[in-house]
Amino acid sequence: MKTVRILLLGDIVGTPGRAMFQKHVQHLKKAHRIDAVIVNGENSAQGRGITQRMAKFYRHNGADVITTGNHIWHHKDIYEYLKHNDDVLRPENFPSDCPGSGVTTFTVDGTTIGVINLQGRVFMREHLNCPFKTAQSVLTFLRHKAPIIIVDFHAETTSEKMAMGFFLDGQVSAVVGTHTHVQTADERILPQGTAFITDLGMAGARNSMLGMKKEPIIQNFLTQMPVKFSVEMEGPMIMCGVWIEVDAQTGKALKIERIQIVDNEITVQPEDER
Ligand SMILES: [Fe+2]
Ligand SMILES: [Fe+2]
Repeated sequence: MKTVRILLLGDIVGTPGRAMFQKHVQHLKKAHRIDAVIVNGENSAQGRGITQRMAKFYRHNGADVITTGNHIWHHKDIYEYLKHNDDVLRPENFPSDCPGSGVTTFTVDGTTIGVINLQGRVFMREHLNCPFKTAQSVLTFLRHKAPIIIVDFHAETTSEKMAMGFFLDGQVSAVVGTHTHVQTADERILPQGTAFITDLGMAGARNSMLGMKKEPIIQNFLTQMPVKFSVEMEGPMIMCGVWIEVDAQTGKALKIERIQIVDNEITVQPEDER
């Protein structure tokens, strides 16, 4: 049986997250015999958004597709890139006038892999198109092009993400959640053969609030006054995700395994985040 192994990494936050990706991705690929890498890059640039330089950085270091989420529009620099390239996705259920797309395909060893990026609406931007109906309509054409389909559902609530998992169970190879930056321990293969995890988690500083410095955020909770968020640069650092194994013929998931790397040694210097 021909199988494909795919590494899926959650939101990469700022310089620390990118340093973790660069340091550990090659080793992970080797250790688990990974064929393809999909990474969520929505927090790459100072914790918000992604730039062209960073998109190229991920591609150069072994990522096949970069998914994103609500922070995709933060740096205008990426808009042109989205128009002309299909390796960085923005959530497909944004209005079609937005630059870019939330759907792409790429080929590994003769097997086509489809990727769909969607954003949730609960406690998020509630006027987006329905992510469930969007998934359904994308699948009408994508299932004929790609035997393996991966969905990154960038959403806030566990319920909306689980609902997407069960909604697409048996129709796609994996539904993985992103956006909360906290890895959940519920990875499994759903009854009809779709690998699922509510949230992949993040890459960045461990003693932080979702990758950002904790003190201003605690102040914000205490005072309700606006504060400036900045990326936590102090280690230890973590990087989180899963790897899955998929039957290349049927597209059914055979295995899902959670990854959480803690690195006490890595140090990062503040740099120009562009
Ligand atoms: Fe995020
Ligand atoms: Fe997000």
